[in-house]
Amino acid sequence: MSLLLAIESSCDETAAAILGPGQRVRSNVVASQIEVHARFGGVVPELASRSHLTAMQPVVSQALDEADVALGELDAIAVTSGPGLAGCLLVGVQAAKGLAWARGLPLVPVDHIAAHVHAVFLEDDRTDGRQPEYPYVALAVSGGHTSLCRVDAPGATETLGQTLDDAAGEAFDKVAKMMGLPYPGGVHIDRLAAEGDSEAVELPRPMLGRGLDFSFSGLKTAVRYAIERDRRLAETDQGRRDLAASFQRAIAEVLVAKSAAACREAGISRLVLAGGVACNSELRRRMSANKGLEVFLTPARYCTDNAAMIGGLAQELLARGEVVAGERLRGLDVYTTRRQA
Ligand code: KG4
Ligand code: ZN
Repeated sequence: MSLLLAIESSCDETAAAILGPGQRVRSNVVASQIEVHARFGGVVPELASRSHLTAMQPVVSQALDEADVALGELDAIAVTSGPGLAGCLLVGVQAAKGLAWARGLPLVPVDHIAAHVHAVFLEDDRTDGRQPEYPYVALAVSGGHTSLCRVDAPGATETLGQTLDDAAGEAFDKVAKMMGLPYPGGVHIDRLAAEGDSEAVELPRPMLGRGLDFSFSGLKTAVRYAIERDRRLAETDQGRRDLAASFQRAIAEVLVAKSAAACREAGISRLVLAGGVACNSELRRRMSANKGLEVFLTPARYCTDNAAMIGGLAQELLARGEVVAGERLRGLDVYTTRRQA
């Protein structure tokens, strides 16, 4: 029986999970820092790392308790080593190193984006079991990343396109802030959009038809100008609904069109949607409706940051011997920007 503890602390969620053999999620605990950062309208790195420091031990204990597993029963530890905020990653990596060192266990360093695009393989009682074959194309869209990649094997991701400025989730959150909605705003835009007219406000579709990279800053500026022209879009219920629907449609159309283009170029029809923005109902609907794609949606509970996805990929890496152990633990460092696997 092989049991693995996974730790994730790359941004503003302190998370720990226990996985059994076969991508089986035994527990998945996430302590969100939303309340810490809400009044700043975005993640404050210094506050995020301090919050990880206090949350880490209780979150790991809770993950063990919920899985009914004792520390001594673990066979391996996994941790996100990048990309992310340096001070945040250090807390998780140091906790994982300490545990691995003390228990004499192998440590599996995991790439956060590669884990997002692998989360579709996680299994629990509510998983429908539909899984893609390799290779597949994945769109990872979150508050920190917008990345289209080709995945040839677990952890083997090649970036095909990425954002040149804001991440998709960042654009959702900034537009929500302009509309006076709470942070993080993506989910509020999603809810309001359901009752709005997506043709009410004319907005650009940035870089549509031009390569596989993304740019969302122009769309964000267009929203700001639209609000300046018509204050009702940020100040009345119907105005907010219409603006939310128009913005959400613009961003979803671009994400779907670029994903389809990436699949065409790669000659692959399988598309995995992952990351926090993959919770968005319109994006899920439009992606699934695209006739040229065989779409695999990551279950919503594994889209936003969590440690189960780190553990799932770690099991595959562990099987391939991609571990750090003993004296080599000392040299394990974190990285802040994307690495090619
Ligand atoms: O993956 P995640 O938890 O963290 C990062 O790695 O960044 O993603 C968080 C992002 C936030 O920007 C949040 O607004 C967005 O995902 N998000 C959504 C929805 N749910 C979460 N965006 C649009 N629609 C949603 N339903
Ligand atoms: Zn993430």
